[in-house]
Amino acid sequence: TAIVAVVPAAGIGSRMQADRPKQYLTIGSLTILEHTLLKLAAHPAISRVVVALSPDDEYFEQLALHNADWLTKVYGGETRADSVSNALAQLADHEWALVHDAARPCVSNEDIANLVSQIDNPLFSGGILATPVKDTMKRARPGEPALVLKTESRDNLWHALTPQLFKAGQLREALADALANGIEVTDEASAMEYAGVPVALIDSNPANIKITRPADLPVAQFYLQHNLR
Ligand code: CTP
Ligand code: MG
Repeated sequence: TAIVAVVPAAGIGSRMQADRPKQYLTIGSLTILEHTLLKLAAHPAISRVVVALSPDDEYFEQLALHNADWLTKVYGGETRADSVSNALAQLADHEWALVHDAARPCVSNEDIANLVSQIDNPLFSGGILATPVKDTMKRARPGEPALVLKTESRDNLWHALTPQLFKAGQLREALADALANGIEVTDEASAMEYAGVPVALIDSNPANIKITRPADLPVAQFYLQHNLR
Protein backbone atom coordinates (compact mmCIF):
# COMPACT_ATOMS: atom_id res chain seq x y z
CA THR A 1 0.00 0.00 0.00
CA ALA A 2 1.31 3.42 -0.93
CA ILE A 3 1.09 5.92 1.89
CA VAL A 4 2.11 9.53 1.35
CA ALA A 5 2.52 11.82 4.34
CA VAL A 6 1.17 15.37 3.93
CA VAL A 7 2.58 18.00 6.29
CA PRO A 8 0.94 21.45 6.41
CA ALA A 9 3.81 23.76 7.43
CA ALA A 10 2.73 27.06 5.90
CA GLY A 11 1.41 28.75 9.05
CA ILE A 12 2.95 31.83 10.66
CA GLY A 13 2.63 30.70 14.28
CA SER A 14 1.08 33.95 15.51
CA ARG A 15 0.24 32.60 18.98
CA MET A 16 3.88 31.59 19.54
CA GLN A 17 5.00 35.22 19.12
CA ALA A 18 8.51 34.15 18.09
CA ASP A 19 10.88 35.80 15.59
CA ARG A 20 10.03 33.10 13.02
CA PRO A 21 7.25 30.61 12.29
CA LYS A 22 7.13 28.13 15.19
CA GLN A 23 7.95 25.10 12.99
CA TYR A 24 11.44 26.60 12.59
CA LEU A 25 12.15 26.92 16.32
CA THR A 26 14.76 24.45 17.55
CA ILE A 27 14.33 21.69 20.12
CA GLY A 28 17.64 19.97 20.79
CA SER A 29 19.66 19.95 17.57
CA LEU A 30 16.73 20.00 15.13
CA THR A 31 13.89 22.32 14.22
CA ILE A 32 10.35 21.26 15.10
CA LEU A 33 9.64 20.69 11.40
CA GLU A 34 12.67 18.39 11.04
CA HIS A 35 11.62 16.32 14.07
CA THR A 36 8.18 15.93 12.49
CA LEU A 37 9.37 15.07 8.97
CA LEU A 38 11.88 12.50 10.26
CA LYS A 39 9.25 10.79 12.45
CA LEU A 40 7.04 10.32 9.38
CA ALA A 41 9.82 9.27 6.99
CA ALA A 42 10.94 6.64 9.53
CA HIS A 43 7.79 4.56 8.95
CA PRO A 44 8.59 1.83 6.38
CA ALA A 45 5.26 2.24 4.53
CA ILE A 46 5.61 6.02 4.09
CA SER A 47 7.54 6.45 0.85
CA ARG A 48 7.06 10.16 0.30
CA VAL A 49 6.38 13.29 2.35
CA VAL A 50 4.71 16.30 0.75
CA VAL A 51 5.34 19.46 2.76
CA ALA A 52 3.29 22.65 2.22
CA LEU A 53 5.37 25.79 2.73
CA SER A 54 4.54 29.47 2.69
CA PRO A 55 5.49 31.23 -0.58
CA ASP A 56 7.43 33.64 1.70
CA ASP A 57 9.29 30.83 3.47
CA GLU A 58 12.98 31.69 3.92
CA TYR A 59 13.93 28.95 6.37
CA PHE A 60 13.18 25.61 4.73
CA GLU A 61 16.09 25.61 2.32
CA GLN A 62 18.48 26.16 5.23
CA LEU A 63 17.49 22.78 6.72
CA ALA A 64 19.93 19.89 6.21
CA LEU A 65 17.12 17.72 4.79
CA HIS A 66 15.71 20.34 2.40
CA ASN A 67 16.73 18.36 -0.72
CA ALA A 68 15.96 14.85 0.57
CA ASP A 69 14.79 12.58 -2.27
CA TRP A 70 11.69 11.51 -0.28
CA LEU A 71 10.45 15.13 0.02
CA THR A 72 8.09 17.05 -2.28
CA LYS A 73 7.53 20.76 -1.65
CA VAL A 74 4.32 22.60 -2.53
CA TYR A 75 3.03 26.06 -1.69
CA GLY A 76 0.58 26.33 1.17
CA GLY A 77 -2.56 28.47 1.11
CA GLU A 78 -4.55 30.93 3.22
CA THR A 79 -5.81 28.28 5.63
CA ARG A 80 -4.59 24.89 6.82
CA ALA A 81 -7.26 23.22 4.67
CA ASP A 82 -5.98 25.12 1.57
CA SER A 83 -2.43 24.00 2.36
CA VAL A 84 -3.54 20.37 2.64
CA SER A 85 -5.58 20.65 -0.59
CA ASN A 86 -2.54 21.95 -2.47
CA ALA A 87 -0.52 18.98 -1.26
CA LEU A 88 -3.26 16.48 -2.16
CA ALA A 89 -3.21 17.81 -5.73
CA GLN A 90 0.18 16.01 -6.06
CA LEU A 91 -1.24 12.60 -5.06
CA ALA A 92 -2.92 9.79 -6.99
CA ASP A 93 -6.53 9.09 -5.95
CA HIS A 94 -5.85 5.56 -4.71
CA GLU A 95 -2.99 6.54 -2.44
CA TRP A 96 -3.53 6.89 1.30
CA ALA A 97 -2.80 10.39 2.55
CA LEU A 98 -1.56 10.62 6.13
CA VAL A 99 -1.93 14.28 7.11
CA HIS A 100 0.13 15.44 10.07
CA ASP A 101 0.65 18.93 11.54
CA ALA A 102 4.22 20.24 11.32
CA ALA A 103 3.63 21.50 14.88
CA ARG A 104 3.24 17.95 16.37
CA PRO A 105 6.82 16.60 16.57
CA CYS A 106 6.10 14.46 19.67
CA VAL A 107 3.96 11.87 17.86
CA SER A 108 5.31 8.41 18.68
CA ASN A 109 6.44 5.84 16.11
CA GLU A 110 4.05 3.39 17.78
CA ASP A 111 1.02 5.63 17.27
CA ILE A 112 1.89 6.25 13.59
CA ALA A 113 2.29 2.48 13.10
CA ASN A 114 -0.97 1.82 14.94
CA LEU A 115 -2.94 4.17 12.67
CA VAL A 116 -1.24 2.91 9.49
CA SER A 117 -1.93 -0.73 10.41
CA GLN A 118 -5.70 -0.02 10.33
CA ILE A 119 -5.42 -0.07 6.51
CA ASP A 120 -5.23 -3.89 6.72
CA ASN A 121 -8.80 -3.91 8.06
CA PRO A 122 -11.13 -4.08 5.01
CA LEU A 123 -13.78 -2.09 6.94
CA PHE A 124 -11.42 0.85 7.56
CA SER A 125 -12.36 3.89 5.48
CA GLY A 126 -10.19 6.38 7.35
CA GLY A 127 -9.30 7.46 10.84
CA ILE A 128 -7.46 9.80 13.15
CA LEU A 129 -5.37 9.71 16.28
CA ALA A 130 -7.40 11.02 19.21
CA THR A 131 -7.39 11.04 22.99
CA PRO A 132 -10.36 11.02 25.40
CA VAL A 133 -10.96 14.35 27.18
CA LYS A 134 -10.14 14.27 30.87
CA ASP A 135 -11.17 17.70 32.17
CA THR A 136 -14.78 18.55 32.98
CA MET A 137 -16.25 20.20 29.90
CA LYS A 138 -18.29 23.45 30.19
CA ARG A 139 -20.34 25.03 27.42
CA ALA A 140 -20.57 28.82 27.80
CA ARG A 141 -23.50 31.00 26.78
CA PRO A 142 -22.54 33.47 24.02
CA GLY A 143 -21.23 36.86 25.18
CA GLU A 144 -18.84 38.44 27.68
CA PRO A 145 -18.15 37.70 30.46
CA ALA A 146 -18.13 33.96 29.82
CA LEU A 147 -20.81 32.27 31.93
CA VAL A 148 -21.53 28.56 32.07
CA LEU A 149 -24.61 27.45 30.16
CA LYS A 150 -24.15 23.78 31.06
CA THR A 151 -21.72 21.00 31.82
CA GLU A 152 -21.22 18.65 28.86
CA SER A 153 -20.94 14.93 29.51
CA ARG A 154 -17.41 13.64 28.92
CA ASP A 155 -18.80 10.32 27.71
CA ASN A 156 -17.60 9.61 24.18
CA LEU A 157 -15.84 12.99 23.90
CA TRP A 158 -12.38 12.98 22.31
CA HIS A 159 -9.66 15.45 21.33
CA ALA A 160 -8.90 15.13 17.60
CA LEU A 161 -5.14 14.96 16.97
CA THR A 162 -3.09 14.15 13.89
CA PRO A 163 -2.02 12.11 11.88
CA GLN A 164 -5.34 11.74 10.05
CA LEU A 165 -5.41 9.00 7.40
CA PHE A 166 -7.77 8.93 4.40
CA LYS A 167 -7.82 7.94 0.72
CA ALA A 168 -6.26 10.87 -1.14
CA GLY A 169 -8.99 11.14 -3.80
CA GLN A 170 -11.84 11.00 -1.28
CA LEU A 171 -10.18 13.55 0.97
CA ARG A 172 -9.46 15.93 -1.91
CA GLU A 173 -13.12 15.84 -2.97
CA ALA A 174 -14.43 16.10 0.59
CA LEU A 175 -12.27 19.15 1.36
CA ALA A 176 -13.34 20.91 -1.85
CA ASP A 177 -16.99 20.13 -1.14
CA ALA A 178 -16.89 21.24 2.50
CA LEU A 179 -15.05 24.46 1.66
CA ALA A 180 -17.50 25.22 -1.18
CA ASN A 181 -20.41 24.76 1.26
CA GLY A 182 -18.98 27.02 3.95
CA ILE A 183 -18.37 24.17 6.45
CA GLU A 184 -15.76 24.97 9.11
CA VAL A 185 -12.86 22.62 8.31
CA THR A 186 -10.36 22.61 11.18
CA ASP A 187 -9.15 19.09 10.44
CA GLU A 188 -9.42 16.53 7.61
CA ALA A 189 -11.98 14.48 9.54
CA SER A 190 -14.47 17.41 9.58
CA ALA A 191 -14.59 17.29 5.78
CA MET A 192 -14.93 13.48 5.71
CA GLU A 193 -17.72 13.60 8.32
CA TYR A 194 -19.55 16.12 6.13
CA ALA A 195 -19.12 13.69 3.22
CA GLY A 196 -20.64 10.90 5.34
CA VAL A 197 -17.49 8.75 5.53
CA PRO A 198 -17.03 6.88 8.83
CA VAL A 199 -13.97 8.15 10.73
CA ALA A 200 -12.27 5.77 13.19
CA LEU A 201 -10.84 7.18 16.43
CA ILE A 202 -7.48 5.57 17.29
CA ASP A 203 -6.41 6.10 20.90
CA SER A 204 -3.18 8.14 20.88
CA ASN A 205 -0.48 8.85 23.39
CA PRO A 206 -1.63 12.28 24.70
CA ALA A 207 1.98 13.49 24.53
CA ASN A 208 1.22 14.14 20.84
CA ILE A 209 0.56 17.84 21.57
CA LYS A 210 0.31 20.64 19.02
CA ILE A 211 2.96 23.21 19.85
CA THR A 212 0.93 26.41 19.92
CA ARG A 213 2.09 28.79 22.69
CA PRO A 214 5.52 29.48 24.28
CA ALA A 215 4.68 27.29 27.31
CA ASP A 216 4.30 24.28 25.00
CA LEU A 217 8.00 24.34 24.02
CA PRO A 218 9.54 22.97 27.25
CA VAL A 219 6.74 20.40 27.46
CA ALA A 220 7.46 19.23 23.90
CA GLN A 221 11.18 19.12 24.63
CA PHE A 222 10.47 16.88 27.62
CA TYR A 223 8.20 14.56 25.62
CA LEU A 224 10.74 14.33 22.78
CA GLN A 225 13.45 13.28 25.23
CA HIS A 226 11.31 10.80 27.20
CA ASN A 227 8.55 8.81 25.61
CA LEU A 228 5.97 9.24 28.36
CA ARG A 229 2.21 8.80 28.49
N1 CTP B 1 -0.81 25.65 8.51
C1 CTP B 1 -0.64 25.65 7.12
N2 CTP B 1 -1.21 26.65 6.35
C2 CTP B 1 -1.92 27.63 6.93
C3 CTP B 1 -2.10 27.64 8.34
C4 CTP B 1 -1.54 26.62 9.11
O1 CTP B 1 0.01 24.76 6.57
N3 CTP B 1 -2.44 28.60 6.15
C5 CTP B 1 -0.17 24.59 9.33
C6 CTP B 1 0.76 25.13 10.40
O2 CTP B 1 2.05 25.38 9.86
C7 CTP B 1 0.72 24.02 11.44
C8 CTP B 1 -0.64 23.35 11.25
O3 CTP B 1 -1.16 23.86 10.02
O4 CTP B 1 1.72 23.04 11.22
C9 CTP B 1 -1.57 23.62 12.42
O5 CTP B 1 -1.87 25.02 12.49
P1 CTP B 1 -1.59 25.97 13.75
O6 CTP B 1 -1.10 25.17 14.90
O7 CTP B 1 -2.76 26.85 13.92
O8 CTP B 1 -0.31 26.81 13.24
P2 CTP B 1 -0.26 28.35 12.83
O9 CTP B 1 -1.47 28.69 12.02
O10 CTP B 1 1.07 28.57 12.21
O11 CTP B 1 -0.29 29.08 14.24
P3 CTP B 1 -1.26 30.29 14.71
O12 CTP B 1 -2.68 29.80 14.48
O13 CTP B 1 -0.92 30.51 16.14
O14 CTP B 1 -0.91 31.47 13.84
MG1 MG C 1 -3.47 28.57 12.88
